[in-house]
Amino acid sequence: MGGGTIERIIDAGWARVRETAGYLSEREARFIMLAAALAPGSGDVVEIGSFKGRSTVGLAYVSRECGLGRVVALDPHTAPASTDPDLEGESASYDAFIANLDRAGVRDVVEIHRAFSHDVARTWSRPIRLLWIDGDHTYEGALADVRLFRPHLIPGAIVAMHDVLGTFEGSLRVFADEILRSNDFGPVGLCGSIGWGQYRPGGARSLFYRWARARLSVPIRRLIPIARRGRRIQGVADKYAYKLWRALAPHGAVPARRFVRMTRLAPPNKQL
Ligand SMILES: C[S@@+](CC[C@H](N)C(=O)[O-])C[C@H]1O[C@@H](n2cnc3c(N)ncnc32)[C@H](O)[C@@H]1O
Repeated sequence: MGGGTIERIIDAGWARVRETAGYLSEREARFIMLAAALAPGSGDVVEIGSFKGRSTVGLAYVSRECGLGRVVALDPHTAPASTDPDLEGESASYDAFIANLDRAGVRDVVEIHRAFSHDVARTWSRPIRLLWIDGDHTYEGALADVRLFRPHLIPGAIVAMHDVLGTFEGSLRVFADEILRSNDFGPVGLCGSIGWGQYRPGGARSLFYRWARARLSVPIRRLIPIARRGRRIQGVADKYAYKLWRALAPHGAVPARRFVRMTRLAPPNKQL
């Protein structure tokens, strides 16, 4: 599929995502749609944490338009984690989720599990091509999500985690520890507040990839103590430090051609 075609599909996907309540910026929505369309290999797209379906709609739309099968959406819809968004008086986000999938015309492309990720993981057996983690943002919750689903990642799979560049201490630490410190992840990057890495077991020890991971690790690790002090940044020193370290972690939009060049499964010295 040509780059222009992908971009047109993502534009149409964004038109649907924009109409859906939730927690994803345009840049982030475009990135996960790009990853769903272009992550190499074959396997499922698994979403942990759907809420009212903003990210689900984008993933499902590109999966259908690119003929990539269904998106697996995992969420008990009860906002069980301390880091979850407020349900604002409702008892669950499920009805809004279904209504939003219907409105976007993508319900038939979504395999819905109204369940906790760790419960689904117990019996999960299918290969995964894109793991999108936007559920429990506590350290324990995000860590469990990476570790429980990691055995099912295909070589070349993309793991993308939301809120790794903000003040969710758990997500920041898990991204730093499990992706940036791991020799099993090669290409890595940030887009908005999404941190991502490509799973390359046994193929990401080179200096090239170590440097790429270290380059993100430095600013990400500097943000952790700031996030630990609370979700609302207090004090001038923390505010400036947050701005500085965030600025030093490149997190701009990711063009399709760059993503393809980075994630193509070839030796790093042949990538550029
Ligand atoms: C930040 S919201 C997801 C936002 C959504 N991805 C979007 O684009 O708007 C987090 C969601 O994670 C769900 N959640 C919390 N813990 C979970 C778990 N262990 N497994 C699956 N979902 C979980 C909550 O119910 C909540 O709906």
